[in-house]
Amino acid sequence: MQYDAVIFDLDGTLTDSGRGIVECTRYALQKAGRPVPSDDILQLFLGPPLADSFMRYCGMNEEEAARATDDYRERYLPIGWRENKVFAGIRPLLRALSERGVYLAVATGKPKHTSIDILRYYGLLQYFDKVAGPAPQDLHADKGELIRRVLPAGKHTVMVGDTAGDIIGARDAGIDSIAVLYGYGKNEDVLSAKPTYLVSDVQGLQTLLLGETVGERGFFISVEGLDGCGKTTQMKTLCGLLDDFGYAVHMTREPGGCPVAERIRDILLAQKENGLTDVAEAILFAASRAQHVHDVIRPCVQAGKAVISDRFLDSSVAYQGGGRQLGTEKVLKINEPAVDGCMPDVTVYLKIDHQTAMARRVHATQPDRIEQQNEAFFARVENAYEQMLARDAERFLVVDGRKTREQVAQEIRSQLPPMLLKRGVL
Ligand code: TYD
Repeated sequence: MQYDAVIFDLDGTLTDSGRGIVECTRYALQKAGRPVPSDDILQLFLGPPLADSFMRYCGMNEEEAARATDDYRERYLPIGWRENKVFAGIRPLLRALSERGVYLAVATGKPKHTSIDILRYYGLLQYFDKVAGPAPQDLHADKGELIRRVLPAGKHTVMVGDTAGDIIGARDAGIDSIAVLYGYGKNEDVLSAKPTYLVSDVQGLQTLLLGETVGERGFFISVEGLDGCGKTTQMKTLCGLLDDFGYAVHMTREPGGCPVAERIRDILLAQKENGLTDVAEAILFAASRAQHVHDVIRPCVQAGKAVISDRFLDSSVAYQGGGRQLGTEKVLKINEPAVDGCMPDVTVYLKIDHQTAMARRVHATQPDRIEQQNEAFFARVENAYEQMLARDAERFLVVDGRKTREQVAQEIRSQLPPMLLKRGVL
């Protein structure tokens, strides 16, 4: 069936806000000194008005429930709204509909400004012509009324939602409806509301609205910095973040990332000096990279995945070009056939100076050949990175690696999404 306008519900249809809701509920109960119920009970907080759930499942009176709702917001406003997840397949669906000129809107029971913040953060706002949601003081707004606010004139329109309220609202507004069964709505309630169509997953929704299924557009992010900058921890932050954006994520590393390249890694990062010349070292890093690009990075990006690599070409420019003093030109030349045009869309640089990095490494038990180099070596590595940042500023997201782990993670979470959007990746 071809529709030229589609109105979506937000929670449970485009995004899964379950984690944020559960964590904020837990926070409010702990603050009130109440026992936190089992996860099964916490799941019941998804959907209905919060105060009702606090009364129903936690034995609160109206006044206590109102206070708990305020405490819930105390965590939701700075943190909880970002503990969301875009359902896999939603982004390519919206992109394809938008490219076909289909009018797109959101009609949600969540306050309008929060909904817009969520859609913007997850890079989805760009696809929508209009968003309707209640004002903060008007949380019981009728779904039919919200749908009418974004209903375009003269278009064949359908509403997509996961609850009976969405389906009844659509009928009320005089349009067709598609019920999705992957959200929060109880299946028997949604079915009894008699939607025009029923789909069990996002692929089914794609097929119904587009006549075909469409996949994600993959991309490639590298993470760079001096040894000791905290890359390993922040690789996990990145992985969680991109998973929340609805991507299948592949984490990898250099040197290594595939069997042949891991064997080359063993030679490169031996603990004992092995007589490798500087040029041989640079060529081996490039050889590892050639295999990695061929076997892993390119195929994963082509398959629509988000690839995150712990180090890539910039490490060779910094360590072999700067540290070993081979120079940028020579290193780039050696690496040209290895990289073969497959450059990162964005590089996250965890910036720390070489003295701080060295101080952090004093506890390393078994330093490899490269970590054993002296301070002058790492000063040159740092300097080479700085020059790259100046030359190719657009590609780098620079984060102050001297801050605490949580602060660095927060900066990545707030700065990477707008950058991916700006670079045309999302
Ligand atoms: P890394 O994996 O960050 O070290 P670890 O596993 O100990 O955390 O990096 C391995 C080392 O290899 C690091 O010192 C930087 C160096 N290196 C280069 O010199 N050139 C390169 O091209 C790459 C990818 C790494």
